[in-house]
Amino acid sequence: MDKILPWDAQPINQGHITMPPIRSSALLLPGRSSYNDAPMIKPLEMMKPTIAPTQVHLETFGCQMNEYDSELVRSLMKQDGFVFTDERERADVILMNTCAIRENAHNKVYKHLSELKKLKRQRPLVIGVLGCMAQNLKEELTDIQPLVDVLAGPDAYRQLPMLIRNAMLSQAEGEDQKGIAVDLSEYETYHDVIPDRNDKVNAWIAVMRGCDNFCSFCVVPYTRGRERSRDPEGIVQEARRIAEQGFKQITLLGQNVNSYRFDNWDFARLITAVADVPGIERVRFTSPHPKDFPLSLLEAVVSHPRICKQIHLPLQSGSDRILGLMNRTYTNNECRTLVDRIRTLQADIVLSTDIIGGFCGESEEDFAETYRLLEDIRFHSAFIFKYSERKNTIAARKFPDDVPDSVKTERVTRLFDLQRNISYERNREYLKRTLPILVEGDAKRSAAQGMGKSDGNITVIWDKSAVPSKPGDMLSLAIYDASSTTLYAERPPIN
Ligand code: 5AD
Ligand code: SF4
Repeated sequence: MDKILPWDAQPINQGHITMPPIRSSALLLPGRSSYNDAPMIKPLEMMKPTIAPTQVHLETFGCQMNEYDSELVRSLMKQDGFVFTDERERADVILMNTCAIRENAHNKVYKHLSELKKLKRQRPLVIGVLGCMAQNLKEELTDIQPLVDVLAGPDAYRQLPMLIRNAMLSQAEGEDQKGIAVDLSEYETYHDVIPDRNDKVNAWIAVMRGCDNFCSFCVVPYTRGRERSRDPEGIVQEARRIAEQGFKQITLLGQNVNSYRFDNWDFARLITAVADVPGIERVRFTSPHPKDFPLSLLEAVVSHPRICKQIHLPLQSGSDRILGLMNRTYTNNECRTLVDRIRTLQADIVLSTDIIGGFCGESEEDFAETYRLLEDIRFHSAFIFKYSERKNTIAARKFPDDVPDSVKTERVTRLFDLQRNISYERNREYLKRTLPILVEGDAKRSAAQGMGKSDGNITVIWDKSAVPSKPGDMLSLAIYDASSTTLYAERPPIN
């Protein structure tokens, strides 16, 4: 069957990419002009394809920001006449929104790409790599992986429909022209694009993008570029629309979310304004940097009834020497003081962290400091990673990756074991307590069980035959059992 390209256009040359004139824009907020001053929202009638539309399959790897970016990509592409399919086998275009943060994320994408080789031999297929890997590995991906037709970095999604159309045209003509758009922008925040959200309960809003911190281990400043914040009015307007659509929770996102700044708005003011929007029951944020927690933000979190009493506090290490090499700009003592200050304001707040084991030059003593920090703070949960050297980062350029892999494994295993016990004990503190639970859906293991989150973002499971529930319900449930990862709940006893 003939495939319709969203429209025919004479390519024009714009710098390093060849592009047809842009005729539409992504779904726009009312009252805004588009990126290119193209017409406002296109009437759907005009966009109706006459032949089968191009089917796109999009897979997302990595963090919540990538999930959110995939929502932006779907919005931008649907507005351009593409349709999405869950079935890879039916797709004319397969896109991978990738993550480059650690080597295993990177390897996953390569494995996936090699699986697509066979599919591409069988039929015309355009393959696109989006996101952080596209940005970071442009030479490698196009040289080593001739099967990749399109690369689009995190600031280039507006060009994606055009890049894909060009790749389809080029393929139809028996050519093999690559579409590459990986330039980083100082301004792009996609403020006018309404994400095509999959979830019905939680809505992500990226309030800032990029990062200027240059932690020495981290590739993000290179793949996502400079820090830039979205205008607060647009964010609050989006929050209102989200509430009208029936979402119950908003999670504010950013690589360094609490360094949000726009004119005289800081993150404390922004999160309060979002939490004030009627209809939204819970507001969360991720991922913050420990250096950006002024008292005003802590007070906003603890005093606003709809801001969850939960903070993710990525500490990375407990050794001052390693924190210095990592360029984290705080010390072990400052971490402890911050945690004490938070707990003085709200004793039962749920705290979690990220830790990297086996960073360059980490000695047994350095590691022991990290171990002690976890032991002393007793986070509710921790994400523990083996250090993974990333190309171009400060650490890759300056410090040898000298902790043997076996030692890294042994250290992170010790941290896992410690944290598993702490999480178990922490979760068992909830036994016999009744908690408000926001229902998300069915449990992963069984549709007979409901699954939701406590205010502290801990997973809660219950038997649906005893407690019927649907996504978005707020339940009040009694906790009768707990593991290191999950709370088990039932209807509270009637007094
Ligand atoms: N190696 C291991 N872990 C890393 N992280 C970021 N970069 C690396 C790396 N090169 C971890 C940090 C960060 C989390 C999102 O990923 O702990 O907080
Ligand atoms: Fe990476 Fe550090 Fe920025 Fe977080 S704050 S994204 S770890 S550079």
